[in-house]
Amino acid sequence: MTKANDLNLLNSISYDEQFETYRSLYRSAAFVKSSFKLTSVEAFDYCRQREFFVIVAPYNKYHEILAERTFAEDKIKWSLIGGSVKRTSSETFLEAANRMAQHSLPSIVISDIEPFAFLENTFDFEGQTCVHQGIAFTGRVRADKPEELLTVGDRTRGHFVPISLPPDEIAISHNKKIFIEAQKHISKKTLGEAPFHEREISINEKYQHRYAFHDRFVKPLFSFASKFFGEYSIDDYKQLEHSILSDGMTSSLIDVACGENELCEQLARTSQFDLVVGNDISFSQVELLSKKSNGKQVPEGLVYTNHDATDLPFEDDQFDVSICKNVLHHMPDQDAVQRLIAETVRVAKKALIVEVMNPEFEGRWGRLRHNYYVHFLHDAFVHFLSKSEFEALIEPYTCQYRFDCHTFRGVYFMAVLSSP
Ligand SMILES: C[S@@+](CC[C@H](N)C(=O)[O-])C[C@H]1O[C@@H](n2cnc3c(N)ncnc32)[C@H](O)[C@@H]1O
Repeated sequence: MTKANDLNLLNSISYDEQFETYRSLYRSAAFVKSSFKLTSVEAFDYCRQREFFVIVAPYNKYHEILAERTFAEDKIKWSLIGGSVKRTSSETFLEAANRMAQHSLPSIVISDIEPFAFLENTFDFEGQTCVHQGIAFTGRVRADKPEELLTVGDRTRGHFVPISLPPDEIAISHNKKIFIEAQKHISKKTLGEAPFHEREISINEKYQHRYAFHDRFVKPLFSFASKFFGEYSIDDYKQLEHSILSDGMTSSLIDVACGENELCEQLARTSQFDLVVGNDISFSQVELLSKKSNGKQVPEGLVYTNHDATDLPFEDDQFDVSICKNVLHHMPDQDAVQRLIAETVRVAKKALIVEVMNPEFEGRWGRLRHNYYVHFLHDAFVHFLSKSEFEALIEPYTCQYRFDCHTFRGVYFMAVLSSP
């Protein structure tokens, strides 16, 4: 099984393995092969030094794609943004995609970053060959007025081109194929206003330092207090969670909205898991995890992704087990809650749904804790569930296990589900 690593801590992991992990994860992405006959030894030597590369196609709310103007074949054309991964600084493919987008348009921030094609370029020179492997990503540009990004700062190499741009206007013939794949991929995305989860991302970013404080001081305090108050301690709860997730039959797992929770890292450290995916729509939350690990060797087989959990780019039953913990109350409406549960169940053979009960039903302590989460952490909740609401939501699925875990930190509804 392939192994991958953390966001910016891929030091010990080879790029081949990282590439293979991506390939095993994004099975529906296209595979674009190109070959080149080189006529000079200098060009071949140059190619030999650069093996891994990235193409990035950021798209805005009008479905325009960021590209750079270039002069080719006697005409003004557009080139896709891309370049080599910086191996010397152990940059990941994702980091390279971000760096290149920002190099092209310094004020840009991208989210929902997703590979849409794997690329293989073979260079041949007098019977010798070398192969470059690349990943092409799309990323949603986070801006209400994307046109204004072009006027910020004094260096804008990048410009937004319409998604309908004829591929013939793309410079470098083999990049046309990649552009066509990007067009197909982006046209499936929602056009227009920013998705609801944009609000969540912005709030999480704004109060990131408070989460760091919470993690460092408040969480351990709550865990300690839970040994004395409540039916189950946090440790009991965690043990239960671990035993459901690592039952000896599972070797791959996805946490569909991991936030800054260390669960993925802990599970990836056990010998049982070959592949652990920590996904979250807020990459800034996930980045807190690499700060927490503070130079610790990141376990092999752990990879973080950045997708909307109500629409995951993974196949049915791709993972042995999935978990969706404390996320239902963040969904904008009932329809999104249902889609989130459906996606969590769809991508794995077995899904653990955990949701904290509406703290209002817990009495004074629940309300006090809730106030701390809302007013200090600015938790972007929408609607907390009652027990009967939770049970109605899981009713359409085959339920293998159902338990309410009463802890000092709240009552957790737990359910292990599989497809009906
Ligand atoms: C309360 S936190 C829970 C994090 C973690 N599961 C835990 O229990 O500690 C909710 C997380 O859901 C993420 N989230 C919200 N909407 C999402 C969506 N549509 N797709 C993926 N993640 C989402 C947020 O960014 C946040 O990190």
